Amino acid sequence: MEAAHTKPIIRLGILVSGRGSNFKAIARSIDEGRLPGVKIAVVISNAQCLALSAAGHMAINNAVHISKGRARAEQEADVLRTLRANHVDLVCLAGYMRLLSPEFVAAFPHRILNIHPSLLPAFPGLDAQQQAFDYGVKVAGCTVHFVDDELDHGAIVLQRAVPVLETDDAHALADRILAEEHIAYTEAIDRVASGDYEIRGRRYVKAGTRGPGEQGNK
Ligand code: GRF
Repeated sequence: MEAAHTKPIIRLGILVSGRGSNFKAIARSIDEGRLPGVKIAVVISNAQCLALSAAGHMAINNAVHISKGRARAEQEADVLRTLRANHVDLVCLAGYMRLLSPEFVAAFPHRILNIHPSLLPAFPGLDAQQQAFDYGVKVAGCTVHFVDDELDHGAIVLQRAVPVLETDDAHALADRILAEEHIAYTEAIDRVASGDYEIRGRRYVKAGTRGPGEQGNK
């Protein structure tokens, strides 16, 4: 008989603004048993979008807090209220096209993840895949990182690399990066949900890991 699952459930709040392929990949990973002990508590959007309707079709709890024409503080207060009402443990930004204020970030310390389609710190900001393509890099990729007060900047949980092919254009490259994003986000959530890590400075490391200069006395 299999041992019962004893880990406490980690409740995700997924923030979206667009097509929602990363959100759907996370939902699929949960359905297919690749994220044991993880559940989507709520999907929140700042605008009507494909991701939000997909959540509705999948009967996943969802909310929209429109950002256009509203003060940032007011809209963020609504999002925070919804996250708290749904007892969210871990916030996952999945194509959420809003910068979060330091106050918002402080409300979930080291509990907000973002996925970015470049190997950070290269090419932060918009159109990262096009930036990488135009720069002529030979290896591109994606990064899942904790969110801090700077854009695309916090401690890196994991990265996946994608070779840039001679035959690529920026769209073909972006498609291959996206396929890696879908794998990366699930893996990063699994690692963070396990709680088995430490953040040392900017470095995310498995708990108890010692570098060569950090051996204890025998
Ligand atoms: C992804 O490329 C992600 O890395 C970036 O925004 C895009 C969102 O795509 N932050 P989707 O909405 O998850 O399909």
